[in-house]
Amino acid sequence: MPKIALLPGDGIGPEIMKEAVKVLEAVSERFQRTCTYEVLPIGGEAIDRYGDPLPEETLLGVKCVDAVLLGAVGGPKWDKEPAHRRPESGLLRLRKGLGVYANLRPIVACDSLLNVSTLKPEILRGVDILIVRELTGGIYFGAKERHAVEDGEQATDMLVYETKEIERVVRTAFHLASQRRGRLASVDKANVLESSRLWRETVNRIAPEYPDVKVEHVLVDNCAMQLIRNPRQFDVIVTENMFGDILSDEAAMLTGSIGMLPSASLGAEVDLYEPIHGSAPDIAGKGIANPVGIILSVAMMLRHSFGWEDEAQAIEHAVNHVFQEGYRTKDLASDSSYFLHTEEFGNKVVEEIVNFE
Ligand code: NAI
Ligand code: MG
Repeated sequence: MPKIALLPGDGIGPEIMKEAVKVLEAVSERFQRTCTYEVLPIGGEAIDRYGDPLPEETLLGVKCVDAVLLGAVGGPKWDKEPAHRRPESGLLRLRKGLGVYANLRPIVACDSLLNVSTLKPEILRGVDILIVRELTGGIYFGAKERHAVEDGEQATDMLVYETKEIERVVRTAFHLASQRRGRLASVDKANVLESSRLWRETVNRIAPEYPDVKVEHVLVDNCAMQLIRNPRQFDVIVTENMFGDILSDEAAMLTGSIGMLPSASLGAEVDLYEPIHGSAPDIAGKGIANPVGIILSVAMMLRHSFGWEDEAQAIEHAVNHVFQEGYRTKDLASDSSYFLHTEEFGNKVVEEIVNFE
């Protein structure tokens, strides 16, 4: 019986987590499975209660479960905290503490939502990209420093990568590409950054191990443009931590909303699943968040951590069907007078799962 740690976090985190659990319970019942849950604090909520965005209880707790599902962390209330006590630092420590170095972010344009995006439907039709973002290294984890200089201050963030950190995430990406359409775009800034040159050399050294995968190197600024110009050219994209963070928010617009994208962070004994968006303080408490990112993260969890393929497909099918029937959350609605609230959308997905043949 799998045990899942639930970390709702801040802002819209708890709102979407509620829908994720509803869907998880519906799919468990439909397929006669049982999961147990443990709710643990993280982020601003944990700062308020324990003075630490990743309390010991949470770090120990997540190591004793089969998978971790997270909402989102952060918010203006904690923006003035020193860097190491910000909610986001709790999330970075969680990822590092678990050792989940490969963050998979699928971007699939749903046929019934092609007219939602700000981009033209003919550019989006058939888009199916997997971004593999390195998650536990790079500039987010490098040394930070700040000190006074003559006319103000100097601030430093170090971007550091070691060969073995690059190798393992690149191998994951090659493997996934070989199971998909056999194309891998490795994204870097090798014309300027030394860490990117090491990245590129490592990719080239590993490439012969995967003769069925066609690799190309793309500079990150060009990649940002190509994602909008002709997104269908991409199959799997592998890139370092910060580039992957930025490119995936951009790529989210190919689906219509950042609220749509799930993710799986793999590479350790216990894997982590979370939507790619943040805590959305501007809409928190209004009941209008799109819960699809976390619901599809549940599907990824069932598939990757538990091997429950039918259950994962039932969730994905249910979400697609709700969209096909014309239901929209506020972020996807062209007519802002008619949309489903977070909870109503979750209920529709549950109904579809219950009726799934
Ligand atoms: P954000 O992703 O929270 O929001 C960006 C925009 O997208 C906002 O307009 C928001 O309303 C909208 N949005 C996001 N998720 C949505 C959803 N599910 N449904 C409908 N609309 C949605 O990014 P932002 O505003 O830059 O950051 C807010 C806070 O979240 C900050 O404290 C930031 O550090 C934190 N953050 C946390 C992340 C995490 O927990 N994984 C990731 C990104 C940011
Ligand atoms: Mg991000």
